[in-house]
Amino acid sequence: MARRYLTEVCLNAETPYYDVVIVGAGVSGLYLAAALPLHYKALVLSKDSLSVCNSQLAQGGVALTLNGELNSHIEDTLAAGAYMNDLRVVKAMVSESEKVLGRLLDYGVEFDKDEGNKLNMTMEGGHRKRRIVHSRDTTGMALMEALIRRVRGCPNIEVLEYAFAIDLISDHNGSLGVSYNMKGLNQCVASNAVVLATGGIGGWFSRTTNAPVVTGDGLAMALRAGVPLRDAAYIQYHPTAFKLKAGGYFLISEAVRGEGGHLINSAGVRFMKGVHPLMELAPRDVVSKAIHDQFSTGSEVFVDVRHLEPVFFQTRFPNIYKVCVENGIHPETMPIPIEPVEHYHMGGVMADSTGATPVKGLYVTGEAAGTGFHGANRLASNSLLECMALSERIVRVLETKKPQKPLVKAYKATPQLVLDSDKPNISKYALREIFDTALPLVKHNDILENALEKIKIAFEDIENTELTTTEEFEVFNGLQVAKALILDALSIKKSVGSFVIE
Ligand code: SIN
Repeated sequence: MARRYLTEVCLNAETPYYDVVIVGAGVSGLYLAAALPLHYKALVLSKDSLSVCNSQLAQGGVALTLNGELNSHIEDTLAAGAYMNDLRVVKAMVSESEKVLGRLLDYGVEFDKDEGNKLNMTMEGGHRKRRIVHSRDTTGMALMEALIRRVRGCPNIEVLEYAFAIDLISDHNGSLGVSYNMKGLNQCVASNAVVLATGGIGGWFSRTTNAPVVTGDGLAMALRAGVPLRDAAYIQYHPTAFKLKAGGYFLISEAVRGEGGHLINSAGVRFMKGVHPLMELAPRDVVSKAIHDQFSTGSEVFVDVRHLEPVFFQTRFPNIYKVCVENGIHPETMPIPIEPVEHYHMGGVMADSTGATPVKGLYVTGEAAGTGFHGANRLASNSLLECMALSERIVRVLETKKPQKPLVKAYKATPQLVLDSDKPNISKYALREIFDTALPLVKHNDILENALEKIKIAFEDIENTELTTTEEFEVFNGLQVAKALILDALSIKKSVGSFVIE
């Protein structure tokens, strides 16, 4: 039988109780915490310090429809998603735009404005009109700053940093609480509602725009609690990542192309001509695949902004400019070398348009959620919208359920372990290699099958082993997630959207 819990869990009358426990402290988790009514006692578990997350790295902005013309935003979302989206969910998310913006302005987020003091809207791939609000090229940082400030000022919210959530505690009636590890100590909290806001899976890839801390832990917690993933194999590769001298990748925001940047190959040719009518602003899956095809011919690919006014580029994209220069590229005179790298997981924990999962009391928001919003390929800057729109909708559901002082239900479960077993053999490094080789931009069935075999062998070793460190918890989670993704990939017979199989 598959392992239900990674460690022993125990709830009793002494266990601390919260009305809501939020697992994850990026934009989706903090926005949700800040939007809760003050009489809700909430706990936020942050795996690292509050500023270490993917949201902090977000550049482009938030896609919003502010004039009631939802249809074009809906249509662009569907077209980018290869029409594999859930239309009801798309409508629901886009309809939250005004509400989300109102709250962000109220929290003091400073979005860029144009001369008439109107919000400056930028453009990105797959959008047929300007609808993305932004704070220069560090929108995520601006959102996180405002949300951290807000949450720190809310007396009803407690935040624990460096608290690694291990398991959702649940019985046949639904969710009961969460176990977590902090400073090496395993602890449990009881709660009427648990919200997973743990982000995606990018930390498992060596070529990614994501923070290494993002390792799909919430997806594995949900899987162990019996909640399946939706669209698990849909992984987005961002077309334009810049390799840093010190290692790792830095995003060259799609907004750079939205503001007039070109994509060229080694011969200086704008190769997107003839590939898609929107050229450089085609949806991401199309652009990434076209770049992959250029690489197959031996060409390199660059983002070229030499034709743009240098002062405009430096003031609109100050952080991108700074990072390029620090890495020896002067964008006013040199094209920026780029390559597609892992960026976003469209799949996630199965949930409806209110973030509710099949387990009563368990909700999911942000990138961890699998609602069908994005279909097979996410539209640019719909991710930050989803983080906040879905959290907004979860809060509305929670508001209808009055928190009552609960009697913490006594509950105890102990994993059946092989006593004196050795430490697990599989390392984080070896697991990263499995993600890298099995789930690149272009996938192959034989490689997927081979990876599945390796995962099965690793599970035989780890399944009943005592796990004590956060690295061991992460590896177990990563194996569970990799297995779900690969099984889903093997079940899809032809390429669709970001899912490319040869
Ligand atoms: C970007 O700025 O290109 C990334 C925005 C996104 O992932 O939607």
